[in-house]
Amino acid sequence: MSVKLNLIAAACENMGIGKNNDLPWKLKKEMQYFSRMTTQTSDPNKKNVVIMGRKTWDSVPAKFKPFKDRINFILSRQNLDLKDYENVQAFKSLDDIITHLEETSAKEGYDKVWVIGGSDIYKLSLESRSFHRLYLTEIKKNFDCDTFFPHFGDNLKLVDDPEVPAGVQKEGDIEYVFKVYENADFGQDGGR
Ligand SMILES: NC(=O)c1ccc[n+]([C@@H]2O[C@H](COP(=O)([O-])OP(=O)(O)OC[C@H]3O[C@@H](n4cnc5c(N)ncnc54)[C@H](OP(=O)(O)O)[C@@H]3O)[C@@H](O)[C@H]2O)c1
Repeated sequence: MSVKLNLIAAACENMGIGKNNDLPWKLKKEMQYFSRMTTQTSDPNKKNVVIMGRKTWDSVPAKFKPFKDRINFILSRQNLDLKDYENVQAFKSLDDIITHLEETSAKEGYDKVWVIGGSDIYKLSLESRSFHRLYLTEIKKNFDCDTFFPHFGDNLKLVDDPEVPAGVQKEGDIEYVFKVYENADFGQDGGR
């Protein structure tokens, strides 16, 4: 089965996504959206996969990790010690993850695959032939950031997803919009 990478990110107007290995903002409902989108499956017997870089893993508070009811994959060039965690596995490259998912999909039966950051991992995924969609929360404000969402090309088209709330969302004085972009080239060469 071909792997579809769905990226999910929140970025402010300057495309910033992080500061000091943390999020630059506190948006509770936006976080709930992230949790719902990455957790819900079309098949109750299956779990989704979340793929993240080692720094994003480090940035998640202990009480929230691993992300529950999801299979957690971490990208790192180091040999990480993850023996205290269930449903967490480390990989040395995104290709290794894609190969693993392709080889195990029939047996282990994961549902969707979500790439949850950070910057390096988004870039690798946008460049991958398996890149399917980008779920981008566009925050209508500028924050001081040291980590940024990578540039993405013009081969993306806006699409609707019935699971994604439409219109302007508001939390306190911060407005944001949930956008869904699809890779127009996905599947053109047969995917992976
Ligand atoms: N706003 C959002 O939606 C969002 C989402 C996620 C994260 N964030 C923020 O982003 C920041 C963290 O992101 P980041 O960009 O600094 O780091 P990151 O992408 O989460 O992690 C980088 C690490 O991933 C590993 N890695 C990177 N490329 C690799 C490759 N090709 N092969 C194998 N491993 C690779 C390396 O780990 P090793 O050093 O262990 O080798 C590298 O140091 C935090 O501020 C976080 O809060 C924001």
